[in-house]
Amino acid sequence: MRILFIGDIFGRPGRNIVRDRLPSLVKDHSIDLVIANGENSAAGFGITPQLAEELFELGIDVLTSGNHIWDKREIIDFFQMADGNPHSPSRRLLRPANYAPDLPGHGLYEGRKGEIEYAVINLQGRVFMPSNDDPFRKTDQLLRDIQSKVILVDIHAEATSEKISLGWYLDGKVTAVVGTHTHVPTADERVLPNGTAYITDVGMTGPFDGVIGVKKELVVGKFLNNMPVRFEAASGDVRLCAVVIDCDEKTGRARSIERVMVGERGAGLRS
Ligand SMILES: [Fe+2]
Ligand SMILES: [Fe+2]
Repeated sequence: MRILFIGDIFGRPGRNIVRDRLPSLVKDHSIDLVIANGENSAAGFGITPQLAEELFELGIDVLTSGNHIWDKREIIDFFQMADGNPHSPSRRLLRPANYAPDLPGHGLYEGRKGEIEYAVINLQGRVFMPSNDDPFRKTDQLLRDIQSKVILVDIHAEATSEKISLGWYLDGKVTAVVGTHTHVPTADERVLPNGTAYITDVGMTGPFDGVIGVKKELVVGKFLNNMPVRFEAASGDVRLCAVVIDCDEKTGRARSIERVMVGERGAGLRS
């Protein structure tokens, strides 16, 4: 099975590049399953039900998220719409599993693509982030009931050490551990010794002519003056960051992980 995981989709520029480039990526890389982090789809802050449905219609199978998942209040009603339907669009949008268990939404989705069963787990780190439950032990708890061999984990976290530690902790237990949240792709993709594909951060799908998606003047001004400022999405140099993971669906072991960055311009973009 070949999985495309797309990093944090940021605002309209991010949504548009997914619309433009996803079909050719799926074809060129023989992709079977598409997963994307959509926490910044709504102008950088959260995701609305309408935008989630729009992204699913583009061919994304499962959407993960992170700390921005609660920014748009209507997402709470959307999560509750999933009641009773294990594969509805609202059930295929995840929030980190290690938020309080009684909050709306789920951090685990189990689905099937053709004959292949797969699972997606969404977790959030705790270093320089909200003080959620332990993502390590939460994963152990979730893994006890998962039947699928193919299991992808999105660790949405700030600290590289926390993400790398989770990669080692889950090596041999899941197919892939991919990092999101920093919006900056890291060059450390590899398959760990027991068959888990790993990368610290997939990177952002959105405007790179800014500071992690926001207009650069606003963020630079914030650092200079420390005054309250309303962040607005940047617009230029739009890129799509993703990884392609190839795995043996019978064992769940990864064979390879490859970074992908496509965009409108810029030297060194890899497709
Ligand atoms: Fe993000
Ligand atoms: Fe985030």
